[in-house]
Amino acid sequence: MKQNRAPVFEAVTRYADLRPAYFCVPGHRYENGVNTPFRAFAGDNIFKIDLTETMLTDDLHCPVSAIKEAQELAADLWGADRTFFLVNGSTCGNEAMILSAVRPGEKIMIAGNCHKSVYNALILSGADPVYIMPETVRDWNIPGGISQAEAERMFRQYPDCRALLVTSPDYYGLISDIRSLSEICHRHNALLLVDEAHGPHCYFSEKLPEGAIECGADMCVQSLHKTAGALTQSSLLHVKGSLADIELLKRNLQIVQSSSPSYILMSSLDTARRDLALHGRDMIENALELACSARNRINAITGMLCAGRELEGTSSIFRIDETRLVISAAQLGLTGFRLKALLFDQYNIEVEMADSRNIVAIVTYANTRKDIDELTAALNDISQQYCGGKPLAENTVLPAQAVRAMSPRDAFFAKKKVIPWEEAEGCISAEMIAPYPPGIPVIRPGEIFTHEILHYLKQIRSSGGYIHGLSDETMETITVID
Ligand SMILES: Cc1ncc(COP(=O)(O)O)c(C=O)c1O
Repeated sequence: MKQNRAPVFEAVTRYADLRPAYFCVPGHRYENGVNTPFRAFAGDNIFKIDLTETMLTDDLHCPVSAIKEAQELAADLWGADRTFFLVNGSTCGNEAMILSAVRPGEKIMIAGNCHKSVYNALILSGADPVYIMPETVRDWNIPGGISQAEAERMFRQYPDCRALLVTSPDYYGLISDIRSLSEICHRHNALLLVDEAHGPHCYFSEKLPEGAIECGADMCVQSLHKTAGALTQSSLLHVKGSLADIELLKRNLQIVQSSSPSYILMSSLDTARRDLALHGRDMIENALELACSARNRINAITGMLCAGRELEGTSSIFRIDETRLVISAAQLGLTGFRLKALLFDQYNIEVEMADSRNIVAIVTYANTRKDIDELTAALNDISQQYCGGKPLAENTVLPAQAVRAMSPRDAFFAKKKVIPWEEAEGCISAEMIAPYPPGIPVIRPGEIFTHEILHYLKQIRSSGGYIHGLSDETMETITVID
């Protein structure tokens, strides 16, 4: 296929050249009506391609020309049978996958460490979830992979599960054995859905683990904006094989996506795909090389640790994505939250996320050696400043999976009441509460609060973490099912 083409970008730039008198949405008419400081900062061109479904630009919800071709080129590149552009991130991709794989009341097996969009999709779909828990990576206090043995056991216990959804790679770059999970799912007549939001770059070098579509997933979503050069919110949904219901998927995408999809975002998907097709190997191996050199340098700093391939084969981790740097300064007495704040406040360095022990830095093709030098120099400096600090106590134990009392959907629509935080133990949560990032809920609507969970959430907050989903930000009250 003509991977050197970018049909959507070509269509919008052709339209901008033509510049017809414009009587459609959006109302700003190219750059003319844009707020002056905004326009001065951003430049004119970006507004010239902020268009709608014009005579030349095709329609995401019924593609017949530029968007259709662009989606076909993306499918060809990632090895899918069908690919759909997403302008509301992998969030809407997860929703559409779940809505299309299971009907209300049907069982779906969901990994316990998924992004909150997956659990929100359960509220939308009314599917009946059973949770498969990843093993814990003890030394790093993070969730590991999904084990084949556990998947087999769960399918024996719940033979009517219609699908399994796992996140791989996860936020920490940990990858489960997708090929084996696919074989298990298909043997049990279930679909394998993979949230591969963090993994679209894995397909471009044999030095990285294989991607989910290459390993037998039936559907997967990828946030091209996270690691592969597209603009924020731009993602892909790939389908492979004949098990997924494509017509239902298309209808669901119309439910979860805007009827005014951004042509700027679709152009960014199209041009990011073209770059990867033409230069993907160099781009991604450059990222890998930078990340590996950073890892070696960080591991040579006193009190700093950066996780690497030694994790493979432990805690059901099949492979790791080495472009992801998971760094701990726990030996120096620093939590991940503190380390993240220090890097920003004192060294002007922003990393993607922190937890109570680690930080995660994402290295992409667009990072430079200078970035790596700055990061390692800052960590070196911090190591000297905090040398002799009291190592962090035992890992904050992640609370056990909450017990379910009602389905997420029933809980979401049930009558609720607000009670003091201290009285919540034993009550059924009406909230989905997730430290963010990574956005993995500690409790979902319909699950029962334990002392452990309530304590863990307070600990996250007191050590500087952000929490999404609290109805009362002060954590004095909490909303439960009445
Ligand atoms: C594992 C995972 N899945 C899905 C999402 C949602 O992706 P998006 O931001 O593209 O909507 C995220 C966001 O951080 C994520 O980490």
